[in-house]
Amino acid sequence: MRVSVHPTAEAAAESAAATIAALAARGGLRVLGVATGSSPTPVYRALARRRDELPELQFPDLTLFALDEYLGLPPGHPESYRSVVERDAAGPLGISPDRVHLPSGADPAAYDLAIARHGGVDVQILGIGRNGHIGFNEPGSSFDSRTRVVDLDPSTRLANARFFSGVDEVPSQAVTQGIGTILEARILMLFAFGAEKAEAVAAALEGPVTERVPASALRAHPDVHWVLDDAAASRLSRSGRIEP
Ligand code: F6R
Repeated sequence: MRVSVHPTAEAAAESAAATIAALAARGGLRVLGVATGSSPTPVYRALARRRDELPELQFPDLTLFALDEYLGLPPGHPESYRSVVERDAAGPLGISPDRVHLPSGADPAAYDLAIARHGGVDVQILGIGRNGHIGFNEPGSSFDSRTRVVDLDPSTRLANARFFSGVDEVPSQAVTQGIGTILEARILMLFAFGAEKAEAVAAALEGPVTERVPASALRAHPDVHWVLDDAAASRLSRSGRIEP
């Protein structure tokens, strides 16, 4: 496990983009698992800038698998995760929409099979909820859960209300990769920025490994990189911190 702490989200994103670009240059990035929300957007922006500056760094064959998708939004809704992934990640990275996969509530199990058919996820980008969720695996989710339909925690709907006109507009259900699905990715990179994530980060990294804190499951993964800013790392003990 690596934990790197950076002065700002932008510095963290630049460092992570350099790691991902180096992997791509070595031919080790065919499938990228993408999270939505605020945390990964500086990373997608930093990767897109590198692609603009380096003609040799292009991603025409990269396939994207989203972590999750809301249920119940009309097709094309700007906050559906298909729209968000196409706008924030696929577009800036020059990836065609037919290489962007999202789970379907009608057949969640098909998603795990599709990931397997593509050879598995090389790098999975993750954020963390204030309640410790990863994907939409809310506290209590089993560590061996697979892609499935879930109810969103009221606190998650409240946190995501900022993307909608109000909390009532936030869907109450989603389909998410399971924790077991996420743990199968070869490399995990979790991004957490801001003081509001500090408690969840400390619980996941230094508290007990428990289904009450879904992100604590990552401690069993052999290649996980926690990419934090100072504020998100502020509740870690010094011994838990490894500077970049
Ligand atoms: C998004 C996702 C969620 C978010 C988490 C943090 O696809 O699966 O787990 O990563 O809710 O969201 P932000 O980054 O907006 O704070």
